[in-house]
Amino acid sequence: MNYRHAFHAGNFADVLKHAVLALCLEHFKRKDKPFAVIDTHAGIGAYDLTSDAARRSPEWQQGIGRVMAAERPADVERVLAPLLRIIKAMNTGADLTAYPGSPEVSARLIRPADRVHLCELHEADSKTLDKRYALNARVKMEQRDGYKALKALLPPREKRGLVLIDPPFESRDEFVRLAEAAMRGLERWPSGTFVFWRPMKDLWSLDRFDEGLAEWLVTERDVEPSSILRADMWVRDLQSEGKLAGAGLVIINPPHTLEADLLVLMPWLCEALRQGEGAGWRLDGIVTGEMAASWEG
Ligand SMILES: C[S@@+](CC[C@H](N)C(=O)[O-])C[C@H]1O[C@@H](n2cnc3c(N)ncnc32)[C@H](O)[C@@H]1O
Repeated sequence: MNYRHAFHAGNFADVLKHAVLALCLEHFKRKDKPFAVIDTHAGIGAYDLTSDAARRSPEWQQGIGRVMAAERPADVERVLAPLLRIIKAMNTGADLTAYPGSPEVSARLIRPADRVHLCELHEADSKTLDKRYALNARVKMEQRDGYKALKALLPPREKRGLVLIDPPFESRDEFVRLAEAAMRGLERWPSGTFVFWRPMKDLWSLDRFDEGLAEWLVTERDVEPSSILRADMWVRDLQSEGKLAGAGLVIINPPHTLEADLLVLMPWLCEALRQGEGAGWRLDGIVTGEMAASWEG
């Protein structure tokens, strides 16, 4: 387990992922009934952008750094507001020095009756998480394999909420494990909102995951194609060398407002965060191609 999210915190992929997470949780809060967030690959919860790791690999400067510095049109501001409120609350000085991980986004957005369950396998990272949320009774943390934990955690007693599966993609079989977890998770909790993060590196495996999952849901589980949403963004040509060029999310049972919000956010975000030729984004339903919107340039 060599992956350390501190090297990547606040990059373009984090901004998209955390904006979606925040939008989903804000949507759940429109109803009084409590909800649960299950975060299977939690990381350390929040990131110090002045740390050695963030200085050695300042990906955040081309991610959240640019977003904060940009002039944001009013409709983009509205969509980003749930995430930006958290970032502003964590950064009271003039400089951007702190960025929330997914646990912190959830912990800051839940209400007293809601709860967050975190899994983190890495020993040192799980200790950091433990310390961060030790005094927060609504956040429970377990040092264990998040994929395996899903069996015990689903369905949550609230019967409402979200599962975020955000693995490090260090091992060759990560897509296989992700697909197995997706199918088992959705069998146990068909009405839950599931958010799967995946990098746009091995595009063959990515397509197999996306299309396989969507087809299984539609043909075997009678899921409406409109309950499947894919949101991907790439900041330069996907074939280009170097650091991660693209990433995105498959979202099952998204809030009904999410697609419209992402149609506002993605064109702006892609333009604001582009790192060269061939940047682009797509928002679609995978199997049907319905409601598709995409751009490449
Ligand atoms: C991409 S990072 C998570 C980032 C976090 N979700 C966020 O958005 O802030 C992936 C994390 O998963 C942890 N990890 C790797 N394999 C795991 C497993 N099987 N179960 C739980 N955590 C795991 C890694 O130590 C790493 O901290």
